[in-house]
Amino acid sequence: MSENIVVLGCQWGDEGKGKVVDRLAENVELVIRFQGGANAGHTVRIGDETFILHLLPSGILREGVECLLGGGVVVDPWILCEEFDTLAARSIDAESRCNISGSAHLVMPYHKRLEELRELGLNRKSIGTTGRGIGPAYEDKMARMGVRVCDLTRPDDALRRLIIEKTLRANRLLAERHEAAPLASEALADEIVGFAHRLRPRIVSSFAFLEDVREGRKRTLLEGAQGTLLDVDLGTFPYVTSSSCAIGGAMTGTGLSPKHLGKIVGVFKAYCTRVGNGPFPSELHGDGAEELRKRGKEFGATTGRPRRCGWFDAVAARYAAEVNGLDEIVMTKLDVLSGMEKIDVAVAYEIDGERREMFTNWTEELGRAQAIYEQHDGWDADLSKLENFKDFPAETRAYVRRIEELVRVPIRVVCTGPGRDRWVERSAG
Ligand code: IMP
Repeated sequence: MSENIVVLGCQWGDEGKGKVVDRLAENVELVIRFQGGANAGHTVRIGDETFILHLLPSGILREGVECLLGGGVVVDPWILCEEFDTLAARSIDAESRCNISGSAHLVMPYHKRLEELRELGLNRKSIGTTGRGIGPAYEDKMARMGVRVCDLTRPDDALRRLIIEKTLRANRLLAERHEAAPLASEALADEIVGFAHRLRPRIVSSFAFLEDVREGRKRTLLEGAQGTLLDVDLGTFPYVTSSSCAIGGAMTGTGLSPKHLGKIVGVFKAYCTRVGNGPFPSELHGDGAEELRKRGKEFGATTGRPRRCGWFDAVAARYAAEVNGLDEIVMTKLDVLSGMEKIDVAVAYEIDGERREMFTNWTEELGRAQAIYEQHDGWDADLSKLENFKDFPAETRAYVRRIEELVRVPIRVVCTGPGRDRWVERSAG
């Protein structure tokens, strides 16, 4: 099997993939982000410093590691260049190590404007998006109307004409659907030409670029954003993001085949969170939710919104494990559960009076699901001080073992704090 690694979020995003990728990128030469855009918020703590990346792969924080934004990504050039500049100000040269697939699509200001107006119009039925224009950018891609990164390599005049044409089209939509003011097409075209000048040296044809990966000469990590339950096909539609966050995206978003993917690692938090709207069967309300939110500092890295919090949902977790074909699991934030007297795990749902152990992504139905819990004893120890899993309290080990049994995939690592070193590999126990 190929030695490459795919890292996938397996809940509703925010599982702590940033830290996991940073850690696993230690031994790789290339990290590829394959879907999503600046809606992600990957937090990595290195020593006393905290980095939050939205578009660049977390692997960029490893010195010497090269990165690729794959064709499945939607690239907001304003945010990309801002991330380059912010990292440069902290002495990290990301720009010269970042490559961008020419097949990726651009997120334009009119995408954000259209999304904002649409969400306002939907009121309580809104998706609760991150407001980064992701949905409309993917809509333009599927409608075969988008602007691709390779278009930035056209001569300046041709690029200007293309951007003006696309903006005028978006302006018509803004006027017809929302009676909204137009965007200044000429000024926007000038800005995009400016980005083209800066980004052209970074644009690659990913088929050629990935030759070394296909030939097994470059050890690679593929970094997913968001999580399986937000996948546009496999998630809780329509309360999903507009990309393929599950394993399929690793192929369509790069052009690599299943043969080249290697080990598939799923990241789960030791409990569940969700931002935005949509069903969440093991959600806690009131004081219980507040306590988890406070302990786990569960506020969105992109929007600052408080995350909805709940118990680990083993029904949804097994679904994510199966559809992605996980080889192993990294469980993050186990330390957050320390000090809780009792810890619940959802082991089945009751839907319309019937017990169900199979997950459903029929959203109406999932919205009626009541979680059936199994209760576990909590533990008090400060896990962040422990180096060996066998020294963990018996209750913690029992909790991890039970989840592994329910999900049917080995939990190889548990994380016990935000730092790079809070990473406990499991041997026996
Ligand atoms: P969008 O991706 O901005 O279109 O948002 C669609 C849904 O996905 C909303 O519920 C967002 O809150 C959620 N979402 C998007 N990106 C992330 C993420 O990185 N973490 C968690 N939720 C996300």
